[in-house]
Amino acid sequence: MTQAPLSRIPRHIVSASDYQQQARHHLDDNAWHYLVGGAGDEITAAHNSQVFASYRLKTRVLADVRQGHTQLSLFDKSYPHPIFLAPIAYQHLFHQQGEQATALAAKVMDAPFVVSTLSSTLLEEIGSEGEQALWFQLYFQAQRQQTLALVQRAEQAGYQVLVVTVDAPLAGIRYREQRMGFQLPQEVRAVNVLGATTVTPPTLEASQRLVFKHFMMNAPTWQDLAWLLSVSRLPVVIKGILSPENAEKAVQLGVAGIVVSNHGGRVLDGVLASLEALPAIVQVVNGRVPVLLDGGISRGSDVFKALALGASAVFVGRPYIYALASAGALGVAHLLRTLREELDITMALCGCATLSQINASCVINVGEKCPH
Ligand code: LAC
Repeated sequence: MTQAPLSRIPRHIVSASDYQQQARHHLDDNAWHYLVGGAGDEITAAHNSQVFASYRLKTRVLADVRQGHTQLSLFDKSYPHPIFLAPIAYQHLFHQQGEQATALAAKVMDAPFVVSTLSSTLLEEIGSEGEQALWFQLYFQAQRQQTLALVQRAEQAGYQVLVVTVDAPLAGIRYREQRMGFQLPQEVRAVNVLGATTVTPPTLEASQRLVFKHFMMNAPTWQDLAWLLSVSRLPVVIKGILSPENAEKAVQLGVAGIVVSNHGGRVLDGVLASLEALPAIVQVVNGRVPVLLDGGISRGSDVFKALALGASAVFVGRPYIYALASAGALGVAHLLRTLREELDITMALCGCATLSQINASCVINVGEKCPH
């Protein structure tokens, strides 16, 4: 039996890892394994967080940080802190208010929330009255007309940025989901794209492979990205970049920003951890567009380390869903507040008064991991 979500936060829940433990009590096996799992042996999923430990913080004592703050500006808007909420599909799997609870917490905590194409609440029904930073995560649909319809709905509904995910043209090989026979419950559906066309697999000759002749036949290409850039009125950020070459190409095509990400280790096991991929991408992008990161962020000091290596802001993924499952909007807001406070403290002790003062000299790579 799963427990109902908490209606207040007990004193012993003080960190993202506490929320992870707590969430287990509130989720059934199906939802739990879908959430925590990754592709393959989950090496990349684990590695995303482990690599943060190979960077150590450099304190700077007696620094004057009395004017300190964590404001930043991105895509012509300003944000009070750099901790954003990553797109995560099907949030009704984790809490009965799903995306609406997350949006409420995001609003209260001034964090942009990236709503997934595969949200289980209509994109038009997420968020409350008034100004709130909602971004929309776009998956290319089988037909451009359908992709365009999603883009226009997002524009119409007041979303501010499009985040196009390009690293999952195929479902990953997810041993954990296969072993447990993961299934979406009937009441949890990708309501934004219910009518979307699905392409029927062709009859194949013996030498033809389904992956190439079917899935990748319908997968987006750089031409589709160029097309999207030409039709979108919103800034388009590309998510799922792990190589400097791909980053360069995206910048040349005109993206507004890049999210260094391996999809939480959920698509291809064995790729670089996001933090490992970040420095070379920041170097090649060289300030032309902001570079953001997701994957492995679960503490304020992780945010600091990602910023030190050149990220402008970061996305938290699974940890906020642990908080959502544990205590709904209250949990997500509490988690965000905790991460913000941890970032403030890390900055103060490392002598950084502003995000722009956080740079590579603030961390040391010791080239090894230490246990958390
Ligand atoms: C996943 C897809 C839905 O990671 O993005 O499960």
